[in-house]
Amino acid sequence: MLFLDQVDIQGKRIIMRVDYNVPLKDGAITDDNRIRASLPTINYLLEKGASVVLCSHLGKPKGKKRPELSLKPVAERLKELLNRDVIMAPDCIGEEVLNLAQNLKPGQIMLLENLRFHPGEQKNDPEFARELARMGEIYVNDAFGVAHREHASVVEVTKYVPKCCAGLLLEREWKYLRKALKNPERPFVAVSGGAKVSSKLGILNSLLDKVDRLIIGGAMANTFLQAQGVAMGRSLVEKDLISEAQKILVTAREKGVSLYLPVDFITGTSPDGELASGVCPYQDIPQEEMALDIGPATHTLFAEVLRDARTVVWNGPMGAFENSTFAQGSLNLAESIAHLDALTIVGGGDTDALIHKAGLTEKFSFISTGGGSFLQFLEGRELPAFKALEECKQ
Ligand code: 3PG
Repeated sequence: MLFLDQVDIQGKRIIMRVDYNVPLKDGAITDDNRIRASLPTINYLLEKGASVVLCSHLGKPKGKKRPELSLKPVAERLKELLNRDVIMAPDCIGEEVLNLAQNLKPGQIMLLENLRFHPGEQKNDPEFARELARMGEIYVNDAFGVAHREHASVVEVTKYVPKCCAGLLLEREWKYLRKALKNPERPFVAVSGGAKVSSKLGILNSLLDKVDRLIIGGAMANTFLQAQGVAMGRSLVEKDLISEAQKILVTAREKGVSLYLPVDFITGTSPDGELASGVCPYQDIPQEEMALDIGPATHTLFAEVLRDARTVVWNGPMGAFENSTFAQGSLNLAESIAHLDALTIVGGGDTDALIHKAGLTEKFSFISTGGGSFLQFLEGRELPAFKALEECKQ
């Protein structure tokens, strides 16, 4: 695929796909990281004398106009961050919007209204894509967060614009993730957490072909422990995946991958509880209790496993970290990874939030803006956005 520096954008009108799917509470943006992540590409384009038409989805309006999912608050935030005006378009396609786009002067920016107000976006509809493509002379994709979606503004649009390329953020995501997966310095350690084995099966199996060590924490570790005959009390366990977990344990052994599970837990009676019941070793979880965070012995073990790592990929928290009572294990792990002399890559919504909470964003080599797309990349599956950009080049 082409990258920004390979395309002549001087004075051109750019249609740029960004991922401004930001969290909102009562109409206010609670985390503007995704907006900030788009600034380098926007500034680059403006410096080259281009005009910029930005497009994004927000939430899941299911093809209908829903005022509470308007991108207006994003336009306001963008104005503040760029310290320049941002025109908010009344829609994302149509003659009125096209007129506004065609009248943009070099250095001007317009944000189109939520793409998902139209059903054609998620259907990858050619007619909708053709309309959208008219908004620019060059298409720049800088939306890694939706790279796994076969949607009109990600895939089909590339067929109707004269030129396509990846933006600076997409390029960085692609380079870092490829570096980790294709040519990692060793030891390569993957850390996988979060609640569900079911959502991570493909990733775990794919990682077993690549890593030297695999650390499994979070509620998904419960299923692995139960697969080895450990009684997990009232902890979350995916009973229908116990045989899959057993297979993964066997495959790891066959491939020579060292697999580590928690050896102690902070337990409690509910993930929302204000108080933890205490620390207990994995074989002594009381019948009425739940494992809700990794314990101190586990932290020591995981820190030791990571100590000489040269590449680390981490996805998913170690416990119910949204509740500060059960966040310490994840925060301790973040601290350990942050101080390694290694390429450290983190991704997935929860893990990203965790690193921000820990105030360690600067200490990681790369924090991916992707959630589902990051996971799909780790699984080794082709992302539709990259495929479309590659085909567009030809
Ligand atoms: C995300 O938030 O992960 C991306 O913006 C994709 O959103 P979606 O899951 O609604 O397609």
